[in-house]
Amino acid sequence: MILTEDSIAKIKAKAVRYPRKKSAILPAWTVAYRQIGHVDEAIYKEISKVIGVPMVEIAEAATFYTMFPKKPRGKYLLQVCNNISCALRGSDSMITHLENKLDIKLGETTDDNQFSLIAVECLGACATAPMVQVNMEYHENLDATKLDKLIDDLKAKKD
Ligand code: FES
Repeated sequence: MILTEDSIAKIKAKAVRYPRKKSAILPAWTVAYRQIGHVDEAIYKEISKVIGVPMVEIAEAATFYTMFPKKPRGKYLLQVCNNISCALRGSDSMITHLENKLDIKLGETTDDNQFSLIAVECLGACATAPMVQVNMEYHENLDATKLDKLIDDLKAKKD
């Protein structure tokens, strides 16, 4: 098993809240994502057993939800919103800035496995665009200076 006993217990606790078992797929992914950092077929199989939903239904849902990485990523997953509000407020230049600072392109991970960079659709923080989600945290009202500080602070973190 990849999921820990703690994660399985959390998934079971969430699953009993829903009258339809399928409704527990996203909450289960959230638990798995927090433990592992991505969700893939091995995880779908384990979740299928825990919540009692056929694996094919879990895999089908996975094609729709891009916010859960499907393969291992760097320690910090930088998800730059590139939807309309963020685009109008400079998300393209933020992506270019991050590509240059990290020496990677969109969809890539740094050689030291610290940072992965992807573009995503609206994350619901349009009023504070442009924004980046780093793992589970939102960083909003960004500009090049704030992005530099964000990346430098993450690089300096010891945990
Ligand atoms: S468009 Fe970026 S958060 Fe909505």
